[in-house]
Amino acid sequence: MTKDKVMLRALRGETLAVPPVWMMRQAGRYLPEYMATRAQAGDFLSLCYNPDLATEVTLQPIRRYGFDAAIMFADILLVPQALGADLWFVTGEGPRLSTIGGAADMARLKTADDIHARLAPIYETLGRLSEDLPGETTLIGFAGAPWTVATYMIAGRGTPDQGPAHALMQNDVATFDALIKLLTEATTAYLLRQIEAGAEVIKLFDSWAGSLSGAAFDTYALAPAKAIFAALKTAHPDVLLIGFPREAGEKYVGFARATGADCLALDTKVDAVWAAKELQKDSCVQGNLDPQLLISGGDKLISETKRICRAFAGGPHVFNLGHGITPEADPENVDVMLKAIRG
Ligand code: CP3
Repeated sequence: MTKDKVMLRALRGETLAVPPVWMMRQAGRYLPEYMATRAQAGDFLSLCYNPDLATEVTLQPIRRYGFDAAIMFADILLVPQALGADLWFVTGEGPRLSTIGGAADMARLKTADDIHARLAPIYETLGRLSEDLPGETTLIGFAGAPWTVATYMIAGRGTPDQGPAHALMQNDVATFDALIKLLTEATTAYLLRQIEAGAEVIKLFDSWAGSLSGAAFDTYALAPAKAIFAALKTAHPDVLLIGFPREAGEKYVGFARATGADCLALDTKVDAVWAAKELQKDSCVQGNLDPQLLISGGDKLISETKRICRAFAGGPHVFNLGHGITPEADPENVDVMLKAIRG
């Protein structure tokens, strides 16, 4: 009975006495069982493309903690790889990609229709998860938003200020716009397949939305999210959508209404009382807990968890972190957090 899953009820706008809970990056390096499966796969990308092992690591945090939602194990940078970019991960440093510097680099990329052969293992993982997950657990698919994925494709790596992407936007807007258009199409195609494979909820990660301001935010964060969400809802009216314009600040206001998101994911800088007043009237909200608290634990973890629950108790709320849980987090602190939420 899909209708009764608490996560779906909250995303549809119901105020629940106990919020559903899951964590960004809930399958990851803080769990010894994740490290063991990753070692079995060989490396992170091999794990992403192995449906057996990707299903296993997605299920690990569900078994251990009984979260209300499972997010499929994959990465936002698989879409650039499917479009023909080179992608590798440097241990201890992060992702590296071939770069996009102009029209010649764009010409080497594939089209949105060409991505599915490379991404087929991801659809297979979702199919298995929709069979293997407990009946009460919601299945979340995801992708990176065009701007955030473009920042990695242009720079060839993560950057503190997204400087190379801003420079391309200034100096060669035709190439920049072509890349955003291609990523909007590819992301839409990818997410449609994820829903067909069993994803009930889709989250769009715009991790670097905070470095766009004014009209650039509207053009490169809001408009692509709106286009992607509209296409998904047109094809699948029941799908539920989470937007995450991380560090958008005041730009969070109206974002759910403008894009059609059913839920807004909030970063750690958002004031929860402000968000309850300004955002929760338009959509469900999730997020906000500082992942650092899962390293330090103690009374501060309990009091902050309860403060967030109290702030959002008057409307639809899903408990989550403001960003991904880190490798240094203590798995026992997750139990402490869950007890503070669920009693
Ligand atoms: O949340 C989950 O458990 C699902 C899986 C998931 C991963 N990445 C697995 C992962 C999701 C939803 C992501 C999203 C993602 N990936 C984002 C958006 C969210 C955010 O963090 O802002 C971004 C920007 C990426 C790109 C990426 N992937 C980076 C920058 C890195 C290196 C930094 C790091 O944490 O190591 C990754 C690697 C990555 N993605 C890991 C995991 C579990 C660590 C890889 C490992 O096992 O060593």
